[in-house]
Amino acid sequence: MKRTLMAFLLLGGLALAQADGAKLYAQCAGCHQANGQGIPGAFPPLAGHVAEILGKQGGREYLIKVILWGLQGQIEVKGMKYNGAMPAFNGLKDEEIAAILNHIATAWGDDKKVQGFKPFTTAEVKALRDKKLTPQQVLEERKKLGLK
Ligand code: HEC
Repeated sequence: MKRTLMAFLLLGGLALAQADGAKLYAQCAGCHQANGQGIPGAFPPLAGHVAEILGKQGGREYLIKVILWGLQGQIEVKGMKYNGAMPAFNGLKDEEIAAILNHIATAWGDDKKVQGFKPFTTAEVKALRDKKLTPQQVLEERKKLGLK
């Protein structure tokens, strides 16, 4: 009995220590929707689009930057123009941002569309955090990827 209880507490502790990307995605779903489809013309889709970003040189770093500092200015995703503002999420912990990125990369199979996808790590987020970009600077970073 005691042993079962110990195992239970241990598992519970492990679950708490690891950020839950699916749960954290609730903060994004109001705009990008639970199914990642977004709202045409207002909020770009993430499902299917994350693979397009990951497929570009620098795309992986760009995704981290968008979550950390947001994005502002005109972009085009799957033939549809957007000119909105994505809020910054730099108040989240590194491991939370990594967990959200892993959620949006895997929830709709985008990871399967890029070769050799590796899960985002806390260290990758930490390494970029000190850059402190503005949402407009993130847009400049986006232009370098060669996305529309
Ligand atoms: C208040 C609405 C809102 C919320 C909340 C939001 N986003 Fe966004 N997101 C946007 C908008 C609007 C854009 C496009 C900005 C533009 O037009 O320049 C965007 C852009 C993006 C992009 C870049 C797409 C590209 O093609 O460059 C990614 C990735 C992204 N969001 C992921 C997320 C994730 C993950 C979350 C949750 C942590 C989130 N967003 C929360 C509105 C939102």
